[in-house]
Amino acid sequence: MPDGVQVTPTADGPYMVAGEFALQWPSGHVISQAGEADEQGYIYLCRCGHSNNKPFCDNSHKRVGFKSTEGDATAHKD
Ligand code: FES
Repeated sequence: MPDGVQVTPTADGPYMVAGEFALQWPSGHVISQAGEADEQGYIYLCRCGHSNNKPFCDNSHKRVGFKSTEGDATAHKD
């Protein structure tokens, strides 16, 4: 786990998020992350728009054939 929060867009899949962070709706209500982390403590946030468990990924991206267009080719260094 990195210090701080690290967000990694996975290939044709969700955002993989590592670190400690708060997740909340625009109303300010906190979204429970209980039971959402994998064995390494990573949380996966949907970016395909088809999850039935938003904001978390439920693997619906595979069903709908989500294809990400971004990648290392669009990366830039600070
Ligand atoms: S990215 Fe996995 S369900 Fe949307």
